[in-house]
Amino acid sequence: MDREKSIIKSELEKLNKNNTHRFHMPGHKGRGEAFALYDYDITEIPGADNLHDAQGIIAKAQKKLATIYHSDEAAILVNGTTTGIHSAILGSCAPGEQLLVPTNCHRAVFGALGLGRIEGVFITPEIDRNLGFAHSISEAAVRQALAKNPLSKGMILTNPSYYGTISDLKTIAAILHEQGKFLIVDEAHGAHLRFSDKLPPDAISAGADVVIQSTHKILGSLTQSSLLHFQGSRVNRQKIKAYLSLLQSSSPSYPLMISVEEAVDAVPLKRAKPYLIRLWRPIRNFVSSRMVRSRLFCMAERIRSRIMIAASGCFGPGASPERKWKPGCQRSMAFNAKCHQRIICWR
Ligand SMILES: Cc1ncc(COP(=O)(O)O)c(C=O)c1O
Repeated sequence: MDREKSIIKSELEKLNKNNTHRFHMPGHKGRGEAFALYDYDITEIPGADNLHDAQGIIAKAQKKLATIYHSDEAAILVNGTTTGIHSAILGSCAPGEQLLVPTNCHRAVFGALGLGRIEGVFITPEIDRNLGFAHSISEAAVRQALAKNPLSKGMILTNPSYYGTISDLKTIAAILHEQGKFLIVDEAHGAHLRFSDKLPPDAISAGADVVIQSTHKILGSLTQSSLLHFQGSRVNRQKIKAYLSLLQSSSPSYPLMISVEEAVDAVPLKRAKPYLIRLWRPIRNFVSSRMVRSRLFCMAERIRSRIMIAASGCFGPGASPERKWKPGCQRSMAFNAKCHQRIICWR
């Protein structure tokens, strides 16, 4: 029987042909620092170290990454920030203990609460109904949640948020630390913050105890590669590392590990101007095609009318009150609440 060859690869090739300008993740946009993937796709042979008990080359690379990010210890992740979040929460809270959780967190947080039978103390961020997204969590909201739930062990916070808003992490970390609580920061969208003083402070410099970054999102490592950082001694590092080992693949991918190191190494080389020129070229080529220009014009018209409609509080001309605009953040928070409800039912 004739079998179709390499379905995923050939379909992706077609997709790539039609999708020459990638405005989506991963951050390398298909133009990463190329290396021969198969040459480096090996396993834990002598000399290649072992991610689950790093003592050789992986340990050395992790030490270098910790130095770059000014953390005490860094762990390369091969199953995404998702496993980093699972491990950080499961390793810091015992069943029945409380954790402060903003409702606009990633679903990995809700998964960890369910897996660990941990009680989430939910903080709802203020929603900007005009702009249609949640603001970041304020210091006042953290103080209030702690006053009502003094037994909470600590907090997890997403910073920057999906919408690029930020919290005053330094003050929030200080409030939590004053009361002996820890701060875990999901910095999935912020692995670049350390590299410019024109950007908001990164979570490690703000004093967070555990920080997890999706280096694949902005820095351009391969999808599923991430970093977890430890700082100080408020969390049980050994326990979190034991969860990392339990939850990650027992065949960690060397290409993924290499790509984290390469992406971080490449940041200082990506000087702003050449980098922007490299980013700008595909955009210019994309925009200069006549067909795309006319499409862009239509798109701009649609976006303009949406913005105007959003500003007037409705979605669609003459929308009825039931069809009122539901901002993305409300949808994702509703999804989170549903996940959490389902997990509670399973228990
Ligand atoms: C805020 C946030 N946290 C965590 C994750 C999970 O990251 P990863 O895809 O690296 O597992 C995502 C992914 O979209 C995210 O947006």
